[in-house]
Amino acid sequence: MRNCSSYLEIGSRWGGTFIVICEVLRRMNPGFKRAIAVDLIEETPFIERYSNIAKDDGLEIVYFKGSSTSDEFKRMITEYKPDISLVDGDHKIAGALKDHMLVRQF
Ligand SMILES: C[S@@+](CC[C@H](N)C(=O)[O-])C[C@H]1O[C@@H](n2cnc3c(N)ncnc32)[C@H](O)[C@@H]1O
Repeated sequence: MRNCSSYLEIGSRWGGTFIVICEVLRRMNPGFKRAIAVDLIEETPFIERYSNIAKDDGLEIVYFKGSSTSDEFKRMITEYKPDISLVDGDHKIAGALKDHMLVRQF
């Protein structure tokens, strides 16, 4: 997990795993700059608070409320090109495979 500047989590829910992974990546990578949390639900207070704290350390947190199957999401990750992704959104095989095929190019 070295040389990683960005992280994407599809299906971030409350943000527990998201925050733990961000903190591990941040400590291991001086160039870790951006993390993207994606979920169908509103941004939770947990992620919102973390976002404010992380900003002071030079880490940008992007929250995308919507589906990983949307065109808007595709446009966003094509721009951001996350180095590491966790696919934990739609757990149906077709949904997980679709998410995987989308992020694997990065
Ligand atoms: C198992 S939970 C994620 C748990 C989280 N990764 C953690 O470890 O704390 C799955 C989440 O995926 C979200 N989800 C399901 N399908 C999705 C999709 N197509 N795009 C974005 N989020 C999705 C659900 O709303 C739910 O919050």
